[in-house]
Amino acid sequence: MKIKKLIIRQPDDMHVHFRSGLMLQNVVPFTAHIFGRAVAMGNLPVPITTLETARAYRKEIKDISPKSFNPIMSAMMTKDITPEKIRKLHKAGVKVLKLIPASTSTNSSEGIALNELRNYLPVLETVKKAGMIFSIHAELIHNPKTGKEIPEIQREEMAIPFLGHLVSKASGLKIVVEHASTRKIIEFVKKAPWNVAATLTTHHALVNYGDVFDSQGRILNPFLYCKPVAKTADDQEAVIEVMTSDNPKFFFGSDSAPHLIWKKNSDEPPAGIFTAPVVLSLLCKIFEREKKLERLENFVSRFGAEFYGLPLNKGKITLERGEWLVPEEFEGVKIFKGEEILQWQVV
Ligand code: NCD
Ligand code: ZN
Ligand code: ZN
Repeated sequence: MKIKKLIIRQPDDMHVHFRSGLMLQNVVPFTAHIFGRAVAMGNLPVPITTLETARAYRKEIKDISPKSFNPIMSAMMTKDITPEKIRKLHKAGVKVLKLIPASTSTNSSEGIALNELRNYLPVLETVKKAGMIFSIHAELIHNPKTGKEIPEIQREEMAIPFLGHLVSKASGLKIVVEHASTRKIIEFVKKAPWNVAATLTTHHALVNYGDVFDSQGRILNPFLYCKPVAKTADDQEAVIEVMTSDNPKFFFGSDSAPHLIWKKNSDEPPAGIFTAPVVLSLLCKIFEREKKLERLENFVSRFGAEFYGLPLNKGKITLERGEWLVPEEFEGVKIFKGEEILQWQVV
C-alpha cells in the first residue's frame, strides 16, 4: 500500500539564490514558508563581501519572510578578501565563505581562480577558526597545462585535484562541495576526511546532458541550463544513489537559481534553474522510487544542519500524496517541471 502522508522535521535548503529587489520578493516565499533555514548565496551583480552588505541583504530577506525563517548568510570570496574581513563578517553573523571561481557561473566574475586558492590559506585558516563553512563551486575553466578552455561537461572532474590540494593544506576546514554532479566528485567526497561534505540538487538527479545540449554542444533547452551542467546518465545515477544512501556527508542544497524568461531566451542564456516551488515534491518522488522514503528526512532536515553545527529545526512539515499541476512560470521565471503533474505536495 502506498503511503498517503509523510510528516518530517522542517527541512533546510543549504544552497539557494534569492537575488535582490523584486525578484527576491517573488522567490523568497517559496523557500521561507517551508524551510527553517536556507543558505542565501551572495553572488549578486555586486557580490556580498562586506559586513554592511551582508547585514543589509539579510534584512532584505527577513523583511518578507515569516519570523520562523532564518537565512544563513554567505559572503563571496573575491581577490580583496583578508583574514581581518573574515573576522568582521563572522561577527556580523555570516556563516559561509563562498567561492565561485571567475567565469564558472552566474555573477562570478570577481571570484578567485582555483589555482590561486593556495595564496589564501591564512583566509581559510581564519574561516576554520571562526567555525565558518567554506563553500565551493568546484569547476575548472582552463587546463593549467595547455591553457585551453575545458569543455563544460569535464569542468567538475578537472577541479578534483585542486580540491585534493585544498583538503590537504587546510586540514580541518569544513568544506562543502556544492551541487556535486559527477560520480567522480561524489567518490572524492566520500573518501575525503570528515570535514568535507557536499550538497546535492534535485535537477542533477533528474536532468542529463542530452536534455540540455544538442550533439554539437549547443544549448537546446536554456531552461535546463545550469552550472555545473547536467552530466551523463551514470553521473545522474551516482547522484541518486548517494542522495538516498543515508550518508551524512551528502545533504540537500536546491541551488534554485531564478532567471527571467527573456534572458534565458537570449543568445547567451544565464546558467541556473528555478526549482524552489517543486523541490520537496520531486525529492519525495525520487526517494519513493528508490524505496527509501524513510531516508528523506535525514537528507533534507538533519545532515546539513549537523555539518553546519546548527541545532535541528523543531517544527514539522506535512507532505501529502495528491496530483497537482506545476504552473509553467511565476512572475516571468520558468519553473522547473512546469506544466507537469507531480504526485506530492507540501500542505
Ligand atoms: C547559479 C546562479 O544562477 O546564481 N547558477 C547555476 O547555474 N547554478 C550560480 C551557481 O550556483 O553556480
Ligand atoms: Zn555554483
Ligand atoms: Zn548556486
